[in-house]
Amino acid sequence: MKKLDPANQLLLSQLADGRFHSGEELGEMLSLSRASISKRMAELRRLGLDIFSVKGKGYRLASPLSLLDEAKLKESLGEPLWLWSEVGSTNDVLKAEGAVQNGAVVLAECQTAGRGRRGHNWVSPFGAHLYFSLFWQLDSGHAALQGLSLVAGVAVANAINDSLGDGVRLKWPNDLYHNGRKLGGILVELVGQANGPVNIIIGVGLNVAMPMEAARQVDQPWTDLQQIYNQPIDRTQLAVDVISRLRQSLTLFSEKGLAAFVDDWNRLDCFWGQAVVLKNEQSQQVGICRGIESDGALLLEAGGKVSRIYGGELSMRSYDSATG
Ligand code: BTN
Repeated sequence: MKKLDPANQLLLSQLADGRFHSGEELGEMLSLSRASISKRMAELRRLGLDIFSVKGKGYRLASPLSLLDEAKLKESLGEPLWLWSEVGSTNDVLKAEGAVQNGAVVLAECQTAGRGRRGHNWVSPFGAHLYFSLFWQLDSGHAALQGLSLVAGVAVANAINDSLGDGVRLKWPNDLYHNGRKLGGILVELVGQANGPVNIIIGVGLNVAMPMEAARQVDQPWTDLQQIYNQPIDRTQLAVDVISRLRQSLTLFSEKGLAAFVDDWNRLDCFWGQAVVLKNEQSQQVGICRGIESDGALLLEAGGKVSRIYGGELSMRSYDSATG
């Protein structure tokens, strides 16, 4: 886990506007020599930031950045909240905190070992997207887990649709999609034992403004919020909206269960009524997607019969993309 030192933090906040800043201007601001500014630029580049320098003009970022504002996050979301510049995975950092208060959250500007579902990597370049993990404890163990993972997807999709405009949909169980492209994903992990209260880490990754270099590492069709809504996105405000909605929705889920979210999930389902293929390593099933039920089962209609399918390591694809 790393935090930028205050001088580098200040340098980066100057560069965040995407304009040129001369070494002289930056040096004066921080009372540092131009040589030490240049050394600090090299440190920022090591975080993966695309900073270039032009003689006579100074330094600039390839594109503007919306940095996470720790004071505003804490003011709007309260504590415990931890913001790091660089972590391996926010899920692991939160796990290491042990049992904390419901809704406690770890955010990072970048992850060096971001994890996705089913063993995938999660590409997590500095300052580009949203990466955070939220803690929640459930009394009832494994059975409720499937429901919680569906509710997390509904909460994130609703938060984005309400604040930026309707557009985001869900792919079972909780991938965030827009027009057949992945916008974000949720990795739910259990800590502790199965009987009795279970500690849950809900890791959320949302693409905000994908840098070109990072896009080359993503192995599936992707999109980001900047493209969908055609506007610059304030990442701090987005984090506040999404985390507040998650906390509200998980509180409602703890009181009322999944039933309170089934209609929302089915409305947001990007494959409802469409032919899909459900796969695990051994087998695959084809059918028409009929959404979810209040116990979290996915309904798959085939040959006039509806089967109920429960979580696990299944992946869903549209029938067209799986066969085409
Ligand atoms: C998926 O495969 O769809 C799930 C992606 C989850 C990524 C997020 S980013 C924050 C948290 N930390 C991780 O290492 N993974 C999750």
